Amino acid sequence: MAKSVFFFGEGRSDGDPKRRDLLGGKGAGLAEMTSLGLPVPPGFTISTEVCNAFSGEGKLPAEVIAEIDAALKEVEKATGARFGDAENPLLLSVRSGARASMPGMMDTILNLGLTERTCAGLAKRTNNRRFVLDAYRRFVTMFGDVGLGIKRALFEEVLDQARGRVALTRGIDVTRLNLEELKKKVPDSEIGEAELEGIVRAQKEIVARETGRPFPDDPHEQLTLAIAAVFGSWNNHRALVYRRMHDIPDSWGTACNIQAMVFGNMGDTSATGVAFTRDPSTGARKLYGEWLPNAQGEDVVAGIRTPMPLANDGKDDNSLEAKMPAAYRTLVDIANKLELHFRDMQDLEFTIQDTKLYMLQCRAAKRTSRAAVRAAVEMVGEKLITESEAVLRVDPSSLDQLLHPTLDPKAEKTLLARGLPASPGAAQGHVVFSADEAEKIGSQGKPVILVRIETSPEDIHGMKAARGILTARGGMTSHAAVVARGMGKACVAGTSQIAISYSQETMTIQRSEGGPIVLKKGDLITLDGGTGSVYLGAVPTVPASLGGEFD
Ligand SMILES: Nc1ncnc2c1ncn2[C@@H]1O[C@H](COP(=O)(O)OP(=O)(O)O)[C@@H](O)[C@H]1O
Ligand SMILES: [Mg+2]
Repeated sequence: MAKSVFFFGEGRSDGDPKRRDLLGGKGAGLAEMTSLGLPVPPGFTISTEVCNAFSGEGKLPAEVIAEIDAALKEVEKATGARFGDAENPLLLSVRSGARASMPGMMDTILNLGLTERTCAGLAKRTNNRRFVLDAYRRFVTMFGDVGLGIKRALFEEVLDQARGRVALTRGIDVTRLNLEELKKKVPDSEIGEAELEGIVRAQKEIVARETGRPFPDDPHEQLTLAIAAVFGSWNNHRALVYRRMHDIPDSWGTACNIQAMVFGNMGDTSATGVAFTRDPSTGARKLYGEWLPNAQGEDVVAGIRTPMPLANDGKDDNSLEAKMPAAYRTLVDIANKLELHFRDMQDLEFTIQDTKLYMLQCRAAKRTSRAAVRAAVEMVGEKLITESEAVLRVDPSSLDQLLHPTLDPKAEKTLLARGLPASPGAAQGHVVFSADEAEKIGSQGKPVILVRIETSPEDIHGMKAARGILTARGGMTSHAAVVARGMGKACVAGTSQIAISYSQETMTIQRSEGGPIVLKKGDLITLDGGTGSVYLGAVPTVPASLGGEFD
């Protein structure tokens, strides 16, 4: 096999960023940002060809293992930390990334390399044991789920039990709260050191019980298993469904990116977030995105906490711009630089570790057709692209999105709740609370609206079958929002007034006027993804009209 492991770091990249076929989109983006001199944690990409070899043989070829060892040494040199070291341990992320973007369909493991030894060392070095334990419980959860195939819910239960104990010590009556409310009262970031220590112990016991072996405490064994899991995730069910939906050939394979960790969960001067160089719903030219302080990247996309806006719009002083102005300015500069370089709207992931900003991902942004048209027209005006390039920027197959009907403004409507306008379009349908149910009822030709607390990649088949998606939690860049925009489906996200009970198959809506309303499975609702409104019943629609950019 030709060279198959490509280092990136310290301003240079071994891989050619144009070879997305080998490096995958994420690997190519990391290589390119590194070459541009942007602050990217060093790492290396194992090529998609290795994924195919792995799928065939069930293990990594010996020469690839040697290349990985050599690349790991380079990362150690670039960071000054060592993998498995007791004093200054290097921790890694192990990330999937195919040629075409498949958001959340495959697996990623963060904080790999934590063991009893490195945990103690890192706690001493950072003088922040809480942070290390927070990283550790995340690692055990992700590794247990992705690397060892244990149900994630088992690990989360342990976390939620701890949440309940914290609530009790604060005198909160937990018997009156459902899990959603409890999570709001006691977010992850408020679980203390002693509790975290117990959580890690209990989670490791789950692993021992489920696998019959103790949690792997050797970083090299962790790494080997993680790489195998990432390559294996190319063939998991949801990835297959997504590939079929988007005509992505099975033969492409995913690359595996291994990268030094940076930590957004080190305290209040650390944070993580996502940004779009233009608004992905409207195309307006303004840095748009969301962030969370003291959190790791997955928290923003998974919708675990509802994130805060990047830009200060005058109303919201929880913006990154207001709270961390220097990091915000750096981000704006980098966003501009990347747009100029790629000459297209970008979707970015970043993490701030103790006030210093790092870039973790860039890619061409998924956008609505409306945004595609507006951004393309404005980029011509800005002399970023030519008119003929602009035409190519609008995917013809998605143009019918612009023709989606909108709600009849004259129709009588009963507003139930308001969430975030995550993906435009109007949709009516019967409420269902699970992806399987959406698929079942949808396949009978009945319109359904999939209602979830938040969606996850396992819900993809249900999202496909639904006319629209409604979530209680998560922001404009949550899984539901990103995937719905990609599919051109109406989505209202982060609707905090609704409380969902999966077991009773109901949603309870706390209305600002009038008392609470309870809707059951099968009830009709209407979503307006353009405004984030949720209405009772099926509201009539009118055909769409096109915006001025069409002239
Ligand atoms: N080296 C790293 N340091 C800190 N956070 C990371 C690192 N690598 C990945 N992450 C974060 O983990 C999350 C998931 O990673 P990613 O590989 O991008 O998965 P996905 O393709 O689902 O976005 C992202 O929010 C990303 O920013
Ligand atoms: Mg990502």
